[in-house]
Amino acid sequence: MAEHFAQLSDPHLTSLESVQARDLINKRALGYLSWRRRRRHEHSPQVLAALQDDLASNAPGNQPLAQLLVTGDLTHIGLPDEFQQARAWLEGLGKPTDIALVPGNHDACVSAPWDSTFALWRPYMAADGDSGAAADPIEFPTLRVRGGIAFLGVSTGVPKAPLMATGTAGTAQIKRLRELLLATKKRGLFRVVYLHHCPARGREKWRKRLTDAALFQDMLEVNGAELVVHGHGHRRHYTQLSTRDGATPVIAVPSASALALHGADMAQYNVFSVQRVDKGWKLDVNARVYEPASGAFLPDESCSIELLRQHAGD
Ligand SMILES: [Fe+2]
Ligand SMILES: [Fe+2]
Repeated sequence: MAEHFAQLSDPHLTSLESVQARDLINKRALGYLSWRRRRRHEHSPQVLAALQDDLASNAPGNQPLAQLLVTGDLTHIGLPDEFQQARAWLEGLGKPTDIALVPGNHDACVSAPWDSTFALWRPYMAADGDSGAAADPIEFPTLRVRGGIAFLGVSTGVPKAPLMATGTAGTAQIKRLRELLLATKKRGLFRVVYLHHCPARGREKWRKRLTDAALFQDMLEVNGAELVVHGHGHRRHYTQLSTRDGATPVIAVPSASALALHGADMAQYNVFSVQRVDKGWKLDVNARVYEPASGAFLPDESCSIELLRQHAGD
């Protein structure tokens, strides 16, 4: 029996209408100007509402999703008020146990007090069994297991210099991810790694890259994963990383709210179905893309990928 989950990214759902530019400094001021010029036209609340309707009315196999992965950039410049707006949106989307969130570079735009920012999102980022208080930071990577699937969330959003949109996972997180990949492989789980930045070397512009993609990729090549999903580029693309366990698809989804006004792709989210088969897993990927004429998300490209794997215990 197939298990289903979905991913959306980069909703950039917040409004900065009430923000005064003179109150902002450094990187936030530049981000605010970019929002005034372009981003407020590109990212539409109507598109996000249509996405939410589509999620509710097109459940694959009429089953609830095992998880909805949200891979960062909910905000524009990471202001506390934006974290409040995003928290309200997340609550409208579903329960924290059903939605798995990692931060993006816009959310971690500058160094800001945890209590007024990421603490508000904590339940949506937390690993299974995490009973920490709002004030406690999250230790990434996080692990959630639903049925036969392990969801491994990696945070790459860290404050960077103005004009830079890079991300960094860090050696400690990569080391812990390695341990979690090994442990979940032993349990025979289908391992999904979700993060904001692209972990495949050379796929993203220099100022938008994951600075430690080489280290990340080297680790993945040794320890494997069945799927990696990310956002950040606001474009769809597909690549594969070869690992000792077999090929790992790396799939980028465009922004969930985009109207494709400035060269980025139209709003999209992806639905994944996983089925265990004799020689590994079958992974179906179904893209749903916003169509402005109908104001609705419609089925777009789909593909079926055979992942050849030796199951634990075989
Ligand atoms: Fe983004
Ligand atoms: Fe981003």
